[in-house]
Amino acid sequence: MEKRGGWGSKMAFILAASGSAIGLGNIWRFPYQTGMNGGAAFVLIYIIAAFTVGLTLFLAEVSLGRATKRNPVGAFKEKRPKSPWFLVGILGVFTAVMILSYYAVIAGWTVGYSIKAIKGDFSKTLTKASVQKMFLSFSSNTGLNFLLLLIFISLTVIVVSFGIKGGIEKLTKILMPVLFIILVYLAIKSVSFEGASKGLLFYLKPDFSKINSKVVLYAITQAFFSLSLGMGTIMTYGSYLSDSDYLPSSALWVVSLDTFVAIMAGLIIFPTLFTVPGMSPAQGPSLVFVILPVVFSKISGGAIFGSLFFFLLLIAALTSTISLLEVPVAYLIDEKKWNRKKAALAVGLLSFLFGIPSIFANKPGNFFNDIPFIKKDFLSIMDFVWGNISLLVGGFFIAIFVGYIWKYNKALKEINKSGKIFKFGKLWGFFLRFILPPILFIIILSSLLIK
Ligand code: TRP
Repeated sequence: MEKRGGWGSKMAFILAASGSAIGLGNIWRFPYQTGMNGGAAFVLIYIIAAFTVGLTLFLAEVSLGRATKRNPVGAFKEKRPKSPWFLVGILGVFTAVMILSYYAVIAGWTVGYSIKAIKGDFSKTLTKASVQKMFLSFSSNTGLNFLLLLIFISLTVIVVSFGIKGGIEKLTKILMPVLFIILVYLAIKSVSFEGASKGLLFYLKPDFSKINSKVVLYAITQAFFSLSLGMGTIMTYGSYLSDSDYLPSSALWVVSLDTFVAIMAGLIIFPTLFTVPGMSPAQGPSLVFVILPVVFSKISGGAIFGSLFFFLLLIAALTSTISLLEVPVAYLIDEKKWNRKKAALAVGLLSFLFGIPSIFANKPGNFFNDIPFIKKDFLSIMDFVWGNISLLVGGFFIAIFVGYIWKYNKALKEINKSGKIFKFGKLWGFFLRFILPPILFIIILSSLLIK
């Protein structure tokens, strides 16, 4: 088992798991979800969801991963051989390929916007019309986006080919702290713009009448997406942990860091948004690519900060795509005895092919921009099916498996293996068995009805 590779230290796991968690989900998806779901009320429900449902499932995934030291398919097979439970792992492997395909398209945008920043595109005075035009002409440029997708998937494949320790650890250790600092700096700037208070109210003062089942649904799915839960990413990363690591504190660290970055991203976007006349918070996936240029145009040294920011976002996205690719790659290595390089290349190619329709999703008039009958663009459909439903279904079955099949007290034993006893073990077991399954079940049903 040794040659599978493992983390250098517990700190390395926290860094790598936060590297997986922190990404476009925090900086691109969280603000636009908040904007579309009523602002502060959504933020509040999101935080509650992350620290209850999210944290509980996080611990379930790491403990199963570490107990079996296997990929998601192997983990289920080891605990329940000759039963259909391994299919939950297979669903995770598929989901990883699919999320990677469209996630890499958006990640490609961060590459494009880094270049725009360097070119000085954000140093002019920007209006609503000009930023929207900039986004549209960029995102509908098929050739460019094709190239960016190819670049991004290739980068991911290269890092994953080098293996868990050489590739992932080094990258996160150096660049994550820099990202944190620049986020805080930009948030302080944004909050102090003239007219920022309207955005602060929208973002931080909850209007409780806006809380409905849809808000709860999107808050929970956002928490899953942002924390990389429900498909075995965290299980896979947990499988590289050593038995002496105390899991609950690692889990709490990752959830806290991830939530912090999301909150900061919103604090950058919304105050600035309300200083631009006519701009709506509910504009969907284009939101941050429209507002961030405005932020950079308003601060001194905007070109430098802009290029640095988009570069760091690119790295954050890369540490997330690495964790997505790692799931099918670990599966192919462990279960199918492929070598790492071949597995990374094959899965990367598959994701690239599935990503192509998402490139056309922002080209007005294109088939994939407005799919007949469904009346949605391809990328949104992918995000809904794989980034929402599939993670919820996966999370539901993982909770049932760890809570009832493998049994929560065995999981607790695994958690306590480090020698330090988890004080909230009983509470965790209660949540895992009696709160998560019904909540997730109701939410899966209602999400199928809402759309
Ligand atoms: N959590 C990452 C983000 O917020 C994306 C991601 C990586 C992910 N691995 C995942 C999402 C597994 C869902 C499942 O950007």
